[in-house]
Amino acid sequence: MSEDPLDFSLIRAQFPILEQTENGHPLVYLDNGATSQKPLRVIEALDTYYRSQNANVHRGVYGLSERATELYEGARETARVFLNARSTKEMVFVRGTTEAINLVAQSWARDNLKEDDEIIVTEMEHHSNIVPWQLLRDQLGIRLIVLRINQSGEICLNALKGLVSEKTKLLAVTHMSNALGSINPIKEMVEIAHSVGAKVLVDGAQATPHMTVDVQDLDCDFYALSGHKMYGPTGIGILYAKEELLEAMPPYQGGGDMIYSVTFEKTEYNVLPYKFEAGTPHIAGAIGLAAAMDFLTDIGLDRIAAYEAELLTYATEQLKQIDGLRIIGEAQNKGGVISFVMDVIHPHDMATLMDQEGVAVRASHHCAMPVMQHFNVPATVRASFGVYNSFADIDRLVYAIEEAKAMLL
Ligand code: ALA
Repeated sequence: MSEDPLDFSLIRAQFPILEQTENGHPLVYLDNGATSQKPLRVIEALDTYYRSQNANVHRGVYGLSERATELYEGARETARVFLNARSTKEMVFVRGTTEAINLVAQSWARDNLKEDDEIIVTEMEHHSNIVPWQLLRDQLGIRLIVLRINQSGEICLNALKGLVSEKTKLLAVTHMSNALGSINPIKEMVEIAHSVGAKVLVDGAQATPHMTVDVQDLDCDFYALSGHKMYGPTGIGILYAKEELLEAMPPYQGGGDMIYSVTFEKTEYNVLPYKFEAGTPHIAGAIGLAAAMDFLTDIGLDRIAAYEAELLTYATEQLKQIDGLRIIGEAQNKGGVISFVMDVIHPHDMATLMDQEGVAVRASHHCAMPVMQHFNVPATVRASFGVYNSFADIDRLVYAIEEAKAMLL
């Protein structure tokens, strides 16, 4: 245990959902890679907003609307500080990481790439960082180049150096793999991509709940995150992009709020970041996301990362003692995710029986089918940790695996 363990009684007490039982057992929630549970301050921020603060933003001249606008724009400032962006002009509210990536594909990339240009993606990407580029490939005739991973689930920087050329226009890479837990050396990858003039988009959906992210330090061009993976609401996320890129990009969607003036002949677009926020935004979501960011910042992301690293070490040691269990993905730099398969037993059967013990894990291809193809497995069972998980949760995980195994073998 670290000298500075997180105070679990205090942290867990903020998550009412964790008090319930599942199939007669206290719930052990280990599917944080899919979505995280919400602390009281997020739930209360949403409740307060709808009870006493709800109005449309940027439109009303009455007090309620002005206060809603202040809260919404305050949330943008919280997000700016959270990612250490230079300006709130660089923070676009979107539905989540998926929308952020599609926005970059259909606005920046569609406008800047031409036939035979290349986009590099890694083999460990989530489908949301593959399919938008395939759609663009079919629209523009560009090429998608795959940076392969090794048997530990890591990328190799030298291999990336071998792939980049003056044809490379974009590197699209996950900060932390949802299927393997591997954490990529983003800063070094950005340097390599920039050396040939390519831009870098980072899928930060899995990273932001677990580690400090500083977009200026990483020097990435685009960074995408999802609120619901980081203790915030669903349906809200952020696209960070460097101001000069956003300035030059065409709008992604047309509608209200993204315009300065409209006639039937011509529309002038609004300033950043509103040019990319057509329609009434998810105001409550943005406020809830800011509450989630405050929750993480108050605990301290470095403390969270250190604690979750201890959980991962403990869980890895325990799981390795189970006969027939094989961990998929053993990167040296890894976040709190353990994917595994068990000889003979299908992951879905395993996870269904673990649920009988009150242990919630995901069994699937985790929206990363190329990772499954790489390791030649149809699916894995995945336990993914959050700030409220304890060492006792890991013991329950091990017990549930043993029980399921005893029943199935
Ligand atoms: N991308 C989510 C996961 O990894 C849904 O489970």
